[in-house]
Amino acid sequence: MRLGELAAARRTHKEFRGEAVDRDTVLELLAVARFAPNHHLTQPWRFRVLGPQTLARLQECAGPSEATKLERAPTLVVASVALAGELVQDEEDVCAGAAAIMLVLLAATERGLASYWRTPGVLRTARGRDAAGVPHGERVLGLLHFGAPVREPARRERAGASQYVTFLE
Ligand SMILES: Cc1cc2nc3c(=O)[nH]c(=O)nc-3n(C[C@H](O)[C@H](O)[C@H](O)COP(=O)(O)O)c2cc1C
Repeated sequence: MRLGELAAARRTHKEFRGEAVDRDTVLELLAVARFAPNHHLTQPWRFRVLGPQTLARLQECAGPSEATKLERAPTLVVASVALAGELVQDEEDVCAGAAAIMLVLLAATERGLASYWRTPGVLRTARGRDAAGVPHGERVLGLLHFGAPVREPARRERAGASQYVTFLE
């Protein structure tokens, strides 16, 4: 699949089926992250693949209704970036982290896996971060969901490039 087709095929899935994505495949997906551009080669991306005990701890921190949502996908990965505490570098590292995540999502799409980039409130809390092993100095960018797709999400409308591109003189 060409990159444009792959990008168009990537969709936010909120329903998943089947078993956890096997460890080797998860590693393959996350290995792609390292090719993201990153200024000063800080390689700031960090990924923590949740095991059952960590998930249970996170669910406990999240409370009952939020906990159920954490069961939507069989494989969950906390994506974060390690920050230096310097404004410009941190901003660039957050961008690099987002670029790395996008590569991972595309890699999942390429393999026919469903994915979902979510930012659950629990990962903004000290307890939730702690449960997921995220140390001080890292910014959580999201909880990535992976698994087999249940259905194709509804068609989406997006403005064409002419709506957001300006060629300057
Ligand atoms: C940084 C970021 C955070 C997101 N957080 C959430 C979220 O917490 N809950 C949610 O339903 N979707 C979340 N999304 C997914 C978007 O809602 C989704 O990309 C959008 O609806 C467009 O759908 P598509 O991904 O299928 O193109 C997030 C996306 C990004 C990039």
